[in-house]
Amino acid sequence: MRRIAFINEKGGSCKTTLAVNTAAWLAQHRDARVLLCDLDTQGHAGKSLGVDVRGLKPTIADLLCDPAVQVNDVVRGTPVEGLDLLASNKEMARFPVEVAALPDRDRLLRGKLSDLAGYDYVIFDAPPSMGLVTTNIMLAADEIVIPVAMTYFALDGCAEIIETVQGVRERFDHQALQVSMVVPTLYRKTALADEILAKLREQFPAEICRTVLGYNVQIDEAQSYGQTIWEYAPTSKGALTLEAIARELLSRGSTVAASAKAATASNQ
Ligand SMILES: Nc1ncnc2c1ncn2[C@@H]1O[C@H](COP(=O)(O)OP(=O)(O)OP(=O)(O)O)[C@@H](O)[C@H]1O
Ligand SMILES: [Mg+2]
Repeated sequence: MRRIAFINEKGGSCKTTLAVNTAAWLAQHRDARVLLCDLDTQGHAGKSLGVDVRGLKPTIADLLCDPAVQVNDVVRGTPVEGLDLLASNKEMARFPVEVAALPDRDRLLRGKLSDLAGYDYVIFDAPPSMGLVTTNIMLAADEIVIPVAMTYFALDGCAEIIETVQGVRERFDHQALQVSMVVPTLYRKTALADEILAKLREQFPAEICRTVLGYNVQIDEAQSYGQTIWEYAPTSKGALTLEAIARELLSRGSTVAASAKAATASNQ
């Protein structure tokens, strides 16, 4: 089971777009069983799949805040066959407050997903912030994908995430955690975007995704209709690009598994 988190504290860097469409592609086109976990108060992962998350209950907040609630009580199907969802909404705002005093507050998500069975992939959609929620995600995941919008401060944000990942690895002894891919997003051909892209390639020669996600209005439209790109515009340029990114993530699986094994072995 691969556990992959889409993380960037910068808002609007395409975390949800990539998490949802990659999860749906794996389920639809690779016959995989996929669980998509939304950890954001905005609830956009559910909304992108046409799930009305306003006032929805139970949500991932109940799973994380109530010791009696188990994952099977919260998981729900989606219009995409093979894709299940742990939905979120603004209820999630109570999580950091309610669990603040618990000694195991950083490992709550990991604990709740520890005996998860029957899935090939668990995909996490992170909120645009670094804090207790993101630490929980990093401890529940083994791989991190960083989507980076091609804007001026992008490189700063990326360096900070790498630092946080290293911190979490050491502080919680989660050596298997690694950044498996850095995806350039919202690219438009400008001198600045090209400069940022070149720097990103230099900084992350191994992790950088070969496919760059360009600006494509159909991707935005698909979300506004609560559909994946595979439903809304399956032959569009946006769909082809998102598929290439999903394929690249899939192909990185064996490398990731090998280094996770090595990390576990060196811990023993
Ligand atoms: N390739 C693209 N071309 C045009 N618009 C896009 C593209 N990818 C995503 N968008 C749009 O950009 C906005 C932000 O994308 P998304 O919600 O995936 O980012 P995010 O990182 O999850 O944001 P947040 O930090 O708020 O959770 C959305 O409205 C989405 O539809
Ligand atoms: Mg999002």
